[in-house]
Amino acid sequence: MTDLSPVLAALDADRDGALERLFELIRIPSISTDPAWKADCRRAAEWLVADLATIGFAASVRDTAGHPVVVGHHDGDGPSVLFYGHYDVQPVDPEGEWASPPFAPRLEERDGRTVIAGRGSADDKGQLMTFVEACRAFKKVHGKLPCKVTVIFEGEEESGSPSIVPFLHANATELKADYALVCDTNMWDAQTPSISVGLRGLMEEEIVVTAADRDLHSGYFGGAAANPIHIVAKIVADLRDTDGRILIPGFYDGVDETPPDILAMWNGLGRTPEAFLGSVGLKHPVGEKGRTLLELTWARPTAEVNGIIGGYTGEGFKTVIPGKASAKISCRLVHRQEPETIRAAFRQFVRERVPADCSVAFINHGGAPATQLPYDSPVLGKARAALTDEWGRETIMACMGGSIPIVGLFQAMLGMDSVMVGFGLGDDRIHSPNEKYDLNSFRKGARSWARILSALAA
Ligand code: BES
Repeated sequence: MTDLSPVLAALDADRDGALERLFELIRIPSISTDPAWKADCRRAAEWLVADLATIGFAASVRDTAGHPVVVGHHDGDGPSVLFYGHYDVQPVDPEGEWASPPFAPRLEERDGRTVIAGRGSADDKGQLMTFVEACRAFKKVHGKLPCKVTVIFEGEEESGSPSIVPFLHANATELKADYALVCDTNMWDAQTPSISVGLRGLMEEEIVVTAADRDLHSGYFGGAAANPIHIVAKIVADLRDTDGRILIPGFYDGVDETPPDILAMWNGLGRTPEAFLGSVGLKHPVGEKGRTLLELTWARPTAEVNGIIGGYTGEGFKTVIPGKASAKISCRLVHRQEPETIRAAFRQFVRERVPADCSVAFINHGGAPATQLPYDSPVLGKARAALTDEWGRETIMACMGGSIPIVGLFQAMLGMDSVMVGFGLGDDRIHSPNEKYDLNSFRKGARSWARILSALAA
């Protein structure tokens, strides 16, 4: 057994060092979805390997067909844990909306809290470093870790994890552990810790509609020639009815009703649409009528257009009928909805709306099923007590509307349920300009992992 209090004290004593290390990592623009940043993704992986080595991990950059995966191993007496985080980040656009450069991290005061500003500060570099700092402190104080620890840091989480399935397949024996720990989720609020037991899945698909074989003069051809932007717009508009129900045939197959006791628990948490939407300048939920806010964001599926491209968007004006238009569309999935079944139904829905003299091409951008974990496993009980000790508040068992593909894969491929503990907050602006991570999340997050590792070892 390793005494916990000197470890917590060591974390407090090395706060500046920890912050500087996180800043170094944030400075590397590891945007995974855009090939322009490929070398930086590798640089982030190499930075992590070098940092893990200073703690005594046997770590390496492992090549995949896409961005590399970082794997590190460290011996320990207790049970074995596999910790997951991702070092890749989302693109920064619209870049002009950043108050300070996205890859020049700095401390700022926002809403009375000190925050670390920068792309990836919350999603997920700050989060993954909370765990690394906890390990560093154990090592410094005791010369060892309380558990046998393997870390896996992915470089493609934000772009649909295309390489992770073959990677897990090839390395299953090496990665299998007693517990999987994932730090990529949120707290309930800035004071209240949370464990996530549910995530939505995802189906991502791009459609490219081609009409004429070139861009046309909209006066000469207008009124006769099909406009692919109108075709795309009609497809997008047809996705939902006015009550927010999604109209892709078969879409709701496998969507279950949330049990009344769970709904009652969620209602007891008291999150209102006014407060939730008010924080981003909105008021009225747009999802299915008659559903509560948490149901809409945690337990109901969506169909959203994430991007739409076509026609003349430069300065001034051009009277053109474009030859092509495209849209990036994704569905958040719940319960037993299968990404590939939904993709096939979506494609059919799209084909039915493309005129006979036009064509559509599909680009599969990946997908992941939803995950639901038991609320009452012994390991969650330990993590819950450790979090409550650190934060001085009862830990809330929550779900997340976002997706973390690895969690389902750990379940399906390694037979491991994940303990999802994260210190992000609803106002972190992840995926948006001016992303931040609360300094308090970073500091107490590291202390929380120290407590959790110690509890798992006990
Ligand atoms: N950290 C998020 C998941 C998340 C979102 C947790 C909101 C808590 C609140 C994760 O890194 C993420 O953004 N995942 C992507 C996955 C996708 C690109 C496959 C997502 O949900 O869009």
